[in-house]
Amino acid sequence: MFLGIDIGTTSIKALVVQEEGKIMDSFSRPLQVFSPDSLSREQDPQHWQEAVLALLHQVSERHEIVSIGLAGQMHSLVLLDDRDRPLRPSILWCDQRTTEECRKLTEKLGGESEVIRRVGNPFFEGFTLPKIQWVKTHEPENYRNACSILLPKDYIGFLLTGEKGTDPSDASGTGAFCVNAEKWDDELLTLCEIAPSLFPKVTPSDSLRGFLRKDLSERFGWEKVRVITGGADNPVAALGAGVDDPGLGMISLGTSGTVVVSTKSEVPDPTGRVHYFHHALPRIRYYMGVMLSATHSLDWFLSRFGKKDSWSEFETAIGNSVAGSRGLLFLPYLNGERTPHRDPDARGVLFGISSTHTEGEAYRCILEGIAYGLRDSYELIKALTPIKRLRVVGGGAKNRTWVRIIASNLSTPLELLETDQGAAYGAAMLAANGSGLSKEETSRWARVAEVIDPDPLWEKAYREGFHRYQRLYSTLKDTFASSIQKT
Ligand code: XUL
Repeated sequence: MFLGIDIGTTSIKALVVQEEGKIMDSFSRPLQVFSPDSLSREQDPQHWQEAVLALLHQVSERHEIVSIGLAGQMHSLVLLDDRDRPLRPSILWCDQRTTEECRKLTEKLGGESEVIRRVGNPFFEGFTLPKIQWVKTHEPENYRNACSILLPKDYIGFLLTGEKGTDPSDASGTGAFCVNAEKWDDELLTLCEIAPSLFPKVTPSDSLRGFLRKDLSERFGWEKVRVITGGADNPVAALGAGVDDPGLGMISLGTSGTVVVSTKSEVPDPTGRVHYFHHALPRIRYYMGVMLSATHSLDWFLSRFGKKDSWSEFETAIGNSVAGSRGLLFLPYLNGERTPHRDPDARGVLFGISSTHTEGEAYRCILEGIAYGLRDSYELIKALTPIKRLRVVGGGAKNRTWVRIIASNLSTPLELLETDQGAAYGAAMLAANGSGLSKEETSRWARVAEVIDPDPLWEKAYREGFHRYQRLYSTLKDTFASSIQKT
């Protein structure tokens, strides 16, 4: 059996998969995100460690594992001291405290175009390098004591094997790695006065990180378990969804919402709005738009105001309302927004409420607002590379009405998969590849179950709705910047 582990933001998941791709078992442990203030998001790496060990223990009670593959949240910073202990909580991908660091770094390196030319992307608040600069400025002692820098799945890989390292897909998200040349940008690091030696060696996503430490193998009763390096959650989820060849794309409806499209192109987005990263496969890259609060917006809304007991009641209420929600519009920027605005000050908005609006319209406009946000990313990527086919994955993909809302927005059919288990499934694929199964064999694991077509009437309503959505943000942009409560 192969084991795929995904170090997510709200949970850690583990999937036990056999060699034809059938899932034999799944396990998960919840995680908490700590928010010391409205811009900061942190997690304790110790909690990841405890959760992974508890999961391995559960797995070992029922399964013999030959190899483990890893995936994890991107960008989040883990700083280790000289005895490899975390110096502070991990600063997460969704943390927005580094606007000033991004500005200074960009200026130091000669402007945004130069940064994109070097590392494929501008500096975003969520990326790792600005976080390192923040620690340097605000917690100089922690920075002075730092002996290595790892990303979440690599920290777990290190705990399991004693070996440090990362892969090109996760390294690309740091802002310190040349996506095309596939190496750390030592010159950039030196200019930023960061020792390149802090960063780990980079090996392919399906390479061997090491063997499971002897004490752990003994504890779990396993023999010689291979631990495969793995990759960043988005490309690994794409791999698990069969989004491997150039032109194939995926929309992921998770806490964050992403639009990922594989490409052979070696040209980053010159406007810097869409990310350009290395895939978890050799010589393939991908463009990605990221909205920070996708299902998170829906969860927030339902937990605060939702009156329905079940998803089907909720879906009926949505089904009783018309496309466009009679003008009710939602901007899903609860925690700022990355693509396309790059605006940590943006906030959620429910616009155009009248006393005649219904509960179903209030629900529907939330789903539509998230779909408009995904459409922003889709349009930008379509201008950069051909998109042949798109799949939808993640928790939100279970809701057919929502998928049809998205399909109608993008005017393209969307495929749903037989097995939709996100990055943990792709991680199990990498575990299989790292233990001898060919890419051809594992690419057969991802099979399409259903295709959802756009609704022509909805398409028309969303053309108009999308323009209103885009205009609303432009109108509010300056107000967000001047009035945000930073506590
Ligand atoms: C991608 C990003 C998020 C995290 C979620 O750039 O920040 O999708 O990878 O884990």
